[in-house]
Amino acid sequence: MDTHSHARPSDAVITHLDLDIKVDMNAKRISGTASYDIAVPHGDRIILDTDDLEVEKVTDGSTQELKFNMGDSTRIGRALTIELPKGTDRITVQYRTGPNAKALQWLGPEQTADKIHPFLFTQGEAILSRTWIPIQDSPGIRFTYDAKVNVPTELMAVMSAINPQERSADGNYSFHMEHPIPAYLIALAVGDLDFAPIDDRTGVYAERGMLKRAAWEFEDTGNMLKAAEALYGPYRWGRYDLIVLPPSFPFGGMENPCLTFATPTIIAGDRSLTALVAHELAHSWSGNLVTNATWNDFWLNEGFTVYFESRISEALYGEEYAGMLQQLGRQDLLATLDDIAKGKHPEDSKLRLDLSGRDPDDGMTEVAYEKGAAFLRLLESKVGRDKFDAFLRDYFDRFAFQSMTTDRFLAHLNDHLLEPNHVTLDVDAWVDGKGLPADAPIPESDRFTKVEGQIEQWVAGKPAMQLDTKAWSTFEWMHFLRHLPADLSEQQMNELDAAFGFTKSGNAEVLAAWFEQCIRSDHDPAFARMDEFLNTVGRRKFLVPLYTAMLDSEKGRLMAQTIYRNARPNYHSVSVRTLDDILAWKDNHPPVTF
Ligand code: BES
Ligand code: ZN
Repeated sequence: MDTHSHARPSDAVITHLDLDIKVDMNAKRISGTASYDIAVPHGDRIILDTDDLEVEKVTDGSTQELKFNMGDSTRIGRALTIELPKGTDRITVQYRTGPNAKALQWLGPEQTADKIHPFLFTQGEAILSRTWIPIQDSPGIRFTYDAKVNVPTELMAVMSAINPQERSADGNYSFHMEHPIPAYLIALAVGDLDFAPIDDRTGVYAERGMLKRAAWEFEDTGNMLKAAEALYGPYRWGRYDLIVLPPSFPFGGMENPCLTFATPTIIAGDRSLTALVAHELAHSWSGNLVTNATWNDFWLNEGFTVYFESRISEALYGEEYAGMLQQLGRQDLLATLDDIAKGKHPEDSKLRLDLSGRDPDDGMTEVAYEKGAAFLRLLESKVGRDKFDAFLRDYFDRFAFQSMTTDRFLAHLNDHLLEPNHVTLDVDAWVDGKGLPADAPIPESDRFTKVEGQIEQWVAGKPAMQLDTKAWSTFEWMHFLRHLPADLSEQQMNELDAAFGFTKSGNAEVLAAWFEQCIRSDHDPAFARMDEFLNTVGRRKFLVPLYTAMLDSEKGRLMAQTIYRNARPNYHSVSVRTLDDILAWKDNHPPVTF
């Protein structure tokens, strides 16, 4: 039972979607038809999810009009209930999107890399696909899809499917997804895009001015794919491409099948942030092949993926690299657990969630990612890597293209791993208990210990310029910035910035970690750059800590409101929703005066 969807698949369920839409970049509207194959026999009605959609007409396979009803608006949208005469195996819904469709971000040219043409992208996860397609929007319901998309001829359309590599003359594009996927994995991007191949299975789409840098940054994608296959079996989706979106994309990455959507903030110029590609690629198994049945089972998507990401990273870049990645993850987890324990929903620190009555987005935290991955690492340590890998490989094969509940996974785990290997383990504490169990493996990192040593020497008076930082990776810089002492003086901040050029850094992770320090130490010289950063980058993971840190002081609070007022129109709805909440933002917020 998925409490975040109106669909009742036991009454009637779709098996295939045919989308035929026109994208109007000026009116900021998508309109057209969605036709579905429906499994027969079925009950006398089918329910689709919609949110902010205008439904004009519903017909059956022989264009007979069907009666339909739009339910009340609820926090999960409006149910579209369609009467189904016996034996109806095909229906068509004519519809258009509303002006505030939450999945869609319509960008003006000034918000793109090349600044010439507008851009559109969609974000489906968790329950936003229903804002641009009437659909059974539950991760437990899968269907194949075909799409015809019409866009202005100067733009190109790409989807979560096998994609064109060239511009069409007439602005018409066709897509085919042959594998059944859940609705949250349907995605579309429209912009002035070009394509560059990486190898024969992988490549990258980006705006022209970005394409070369992107192709260089992601050169290892093909190797990641091979490493992933060597671990958990063949890649089943044909091609694996990436698209670099404009900076307002609210996530680091989104694992849309065949085409990962990525933030440009991972293009650091030195390939140091590409673990994100390993993460999204890993979802081609954990998440896209075996899918969380409801959002309460989100850890089955993300915990497995973080574990898998780390294994791919280790295979390519070694244990030290993976160790640092795990350490950073553990730091994020401990900070999140702290916040959750103090907040309104302490039960959000469980792996198995209960998100009924809430926006699922609110319960999707580091817990699913890092506590989930820690649980899998513990399992690995109990049976050894060989057995654990064999178990996971079999799991992805056996349940390919199916959805998975936490209960079903636990039963499978017990029968196929725990019992045969006589493993004793408090599974309940891990899955249904709060916080991090004491037997969580603690990742080791010599390199981080050395970073801490350098911080100690600096605090003891050694000039920053003389610290031993020569061979440091981005991860070490992040660890350094996260572990600086609180309340640094103006002079100390200046010294660090002069020695290491943080404010001028082109690395978004370094910048974001530095800005957090700048807020805490009220380091004025960085604020102009931070303002610019917050006005261009819409990645929620960076926005939340920075705005939150600003709220700690009166001066910061004012700065946060001023920056947010300016930047808010540039953010995607998912970031806006979160930040409105954090900043207690009201549309009629009084103007800030100095
Ligand atoms: N599937 C998520 C993004 C997501 C989660 C979208 C929940 C909507 C709701 C994606 O795979 C992800 O986890 N992205 C991370 C990067 C990753 C390296 C941890 C992100 O965006 O920061
Ligand atoms: Zn993920």
